[in-house]
Amino acid sequence: MCGIFGYSGNKNSNDLVFNGLKRLEYRGYDSWGIAVLDGNKIYQYKDIGLVKQNPKLKKLPKSNVGIGHTRWATHGGVTKTNAHPHISTNGDFTLVQNGMVENFDALKRELRKDGYKFESQTDTEVIVKIVERELKKNISFKKALMTAFKRLEGRNTVAVLDAKSNKIYAIKNGSPLVVGIAKDGIYLASDSLSFSPHTKKIIVLDDYDMVEIDGKDYVVSNIKDGKKKKPEIRTLKYQYEDIDKGKYPHFMLKEIVEQQRTILYATDYNEKELEPLVKQIRKSRKVYLLGAGTAGFAAGQIAFFLRTIAKVDAMEIKSYEFKSYLPVISSKDLIIAISQSGETADTIEPLEVFKKEGCKIASIVNMYGTTISRMSDYEYYTNAGPEICVASTKVFTAQSAWGYLLSMTLAGKYKTARSKLKKLTKSLDEMFSKKSFNYIKNKICKTLVDKEHFFILGKGENASIAYEGALKIKEISYKHVEGFSAGELKHGVIALIEKGTPVIGIIPSGEHMDDSKDLISGMEQVKARGALTIGIGASEYSGLEIFDYYISTPQINTLGSIANVIPFQLISYFLSVLLGNNIDKPRNLAKSVTVK
Ligand code: F6R
Repeated sequence: MCGIFGYSGNKNSNDLVFNGLKRLEYRGYDSWGIAVLDGNKIYQYKDIGLVKQNPKLKKLPKSNVGIGHTRWATHGGVTKTNAHPHISTNGDFTLVQNGMVENFDALKRELRKDGYKFESQTDTEVIVKIVERELKKNISFKKALMTAFKRLEGRNTVAVLDAKSNKIYAIKNGSPLVVGIAKDGIYLASDSLSFSPHTKKIIVLDDYDMVEIDGKDYVVSNIKDGKKKKPEIRTLKYQYEDIDKGKYPHFMLKEIVEQQRTILYATDYNEKELEPLVKQIRKSRKVYLLGAGTAGFAAGQIAFFLRTIAKVDAMEIKSYEFKSYLPVISSKDLIIAISQSGETADTIEPLEVFKKEGCKIASIVNMYGTTISRMSDYEYYTNAGPEICVASTKVFTAQSAWGYLLSMTLAGKYKTARSKLKKLTKSLDEMFSKKSFNYIKNKICKTLVDKEHFFILGKGENASIAYEGALKIKEISYKHVEGFSAGELKHGVIALIEKGTPVIGIIPSGEHMDDSKDLISGMEQVKARGALTIGIGASEYSGLEIFDYYISTPQINTLGSIANVIPFQLISYFLSVLLGNNIDKPRNLAKSVTVK
């Protein structure tokens, strides 16, 4: 995790780096730091907590070159000393890192033997000391940095400000690094979104690429063979000028409401654009959907659509559980990776392995130019725009809707899919009304606020929705919530139900599946044991006495499942507002999990 930002050009780097870090805060928000150059001297400011202005920060000399970092602690607690940048003993260079030095213990012991002392507990300071040791051999700074970098194991990306040469050097391995080419200078960051207001022209660095930035010039080379490269300059489709909350108190609520549009953006593909993937699916032996967390649940939802709508042999694999599938995977299989960030280490690792096995790779990613997209033979984007709240909302429905469109296209029903998707988004209006927000906040969430354990039941098209609903509420409210397939109830789960235990049942329309009957009978059984019952789903069941509360959602065939996740997002949001929690940046979490 962690975010890296750098700038060199003719604008004020202090402000640019500060604003860039604010946009990168979703990657880690326990501490941060900025380093700028004045003449040949480095000045830096570090702080714990959120990226915010401070009189001491304002006192840094104004500069045209600087780097910065937002931290998500891995080695060592949240302190100013552990925050990046980490400056060298003589103050000649300072370094930030994103990733994890897996052999940091061995390297630290080796350095201690050589007499090096450490101020922080971070793995990053180890890199600084190796560079210092290399520099004693009277070699160039660039050579010292490359040699030090080659000693590191794991996924690491570093950016360094070198006072002697006035340059920024950065090397990438595993963790992302993107260069932005603007008229005013060169930007460097963990994602293109953080410098989006300044340029649409980007270079996505490959592993072991080094970029050397000198004023407004840059050179990219590969540190393994030392050769210069002519990297591809891509032009981004969209540029996001302002990333703000608009009229909403939190990004989460803004992103929930945006779903009416983002479901359509994610499915704005014509048949021709989907055709290469459709053909590949047809000739594949089996399709595996890969993802973690919310993306893993979207993988489950898409696999469900592929099986039930398109009759494709599809199943999800949790990214971090891929190893047991290796004995059965074949080069005839297709892997579809699902990811918001496109940089999740848990998902990248299996993709690397499956690619070596000869599998074809497709992906549906929200961010542009990411590692996962670049590894893919078939690259698709959810186009949902920046998702700033750490808890994913609009991207989950975007991923699921894209999976629905793909499945319907495979079934020869592309046009029907597009019209149903339009109908779905129109009918979400009611869910985003004042009346609906009031009901969820003041009736349901006020009842839930004092409860500690909740259970969610779903089945079939709503099984993954129950898991995702539970994750959503857990992440921000910190309540213990579990989602189950309703079929599990009698096999053990019902033992947990006592008087007042909240149970939320997702009830599909009775028209197209039998699952509604099973859900209703499950809810009757928990009600009989004193549960507080909430129904989410088809309006035809809203009047049943077994429900204490009911939220009706539009049921447009199997698309009802996508609508059903929205009340969970709203419960999560309003419950957490009542609890006074940090909505957009929940504790211990980061938006992009780039370490294992
Ligand atoms: C939860 C959430 C996470 C991510 C997971 C994978 O709200 O966002 O569970 O879904 O960390 O991240 P991506 O989608 O970036 O691969």
